[in-house]
Amino acid sequence: MNPAPALIRWYRSHKRDLPWRDTSDPYAIWLSEVILQQTRVDQGLAYYLRFLERFPDVKSLANAPEQDVLRLWQGLGYYSRARNLLATARIIRDECDGVFPHTYDQLLVLRGIGPYTAAAIASFAFGECKAVVDGNVVRVLARFFGIPDASDTPAGMKAFRRVADELIPESNPAEFNQAIMEFGALQCTPRNPSCETCPLRAGCSACNSGRVSELPARKKRVAVRDLWFYYFVPDNGPSTWMRRRVHSGIWKGLHDFPCIESDKPIPHSALRKMAEERLALALPPGTMKPSAKLDHVLSHRKIHAVFFETGNVVMGKNRPEEYRQVAWKEVDDIGIPRLIDRYLEGRAM
Ligand code: ADE
Repeated sequence: MNPAPALIRWYRSHKRDLPWRDTSDPYAIWLSEVILQQTRVDQGLAYYLRFLERFPDVKSLANAPEQDVLRLWQGLGYYSRARNLLATARIIRDECDGVFPHTYDQLLVLRGIGPYTAAAIASFAFGECKAVVDGNVVRVLARFFGIPDASDTPAGMKAFRRVADELIPESNPAEFNQAIMEFGALQCTPRNPSCETCPLRAGCSACNSGRVSELPARKKRVAVRDLWFYYFVPDNGPSTWMRRRVHSGIWKGLHDFPCIESDKPIPHSALRKMAEERLALALPPGTMKPSAKLDHVLSHRKIHAVFFETGNVVMGKNRPEEYRQVAWKEVDDIGIPRLIDRYLEGRAM
């Protein structure tokens, strides 16, 4: 069943009266969409009206000092959106004679205009038959068709865009786009959707199979494991000791300093004996004070790294074989993990 006619019927009797729906000005539509990516409709409304009053067209925005635009944006957060807005306005002024591009493909080239915004402007302002796919649309489609793809992956989004592009009626693309977004915002909500009063209920896969709360699916998060790395950084004048990580799952082939690795924190008082036994590293007497602590996040692990600068020490003959002396001036060239790079950046200061 194609839900488009029922969605449009529902929209005509339930839609909110919102000012950006009464215009075909691509500039005003663009402004509304950028603001609505950042905030809810009720809060966004005031920003939209203020922006349009202050900057009624793309040229007045393009000519504004950045400070003025950022001041109007204040409270919405994520200021790079405001900077992109201004940069795009200036490109339209300088490279398009102040005229908004008229097609989805041309809009997509502009900085800060992605597939969603390009489709919104192309359909609402120019009537192009291009489906918008935002979180609301994904939710409606995932539930109605029982689409299992994860919406927070590029492949998943592509699947949703394909479905939406098949549904959108050529006779009425703008109203369909508004309708499906509004339906997601008001009826088919993330939590507690109004399934009892839903006009799509009879054909809704999720509703009929009790999976409304499971859809849309999201990518399974891999558990992030904590690891504790205790580094000893020898400084023997022109050289230090490093190893090439040959056996390790992370940073294979890269170089780091002598290290005790653990999946639990280790009390510093226990490290001296471990360094002696496992690394053949005789640490200087006295209490061990870390000179740096850095947390470093990898895709599946969070490394809590502690660095002890040990001064002039040698590693004994029975050290693990992969350790060797490395001249400090070579360190930047032999391949080191970003964590070690971060440590060395701090050390140089
Ligand atoms: N959220 C994003 N775009 C919207 C629009 N055009 N109308 C209502 N809510 C929206």
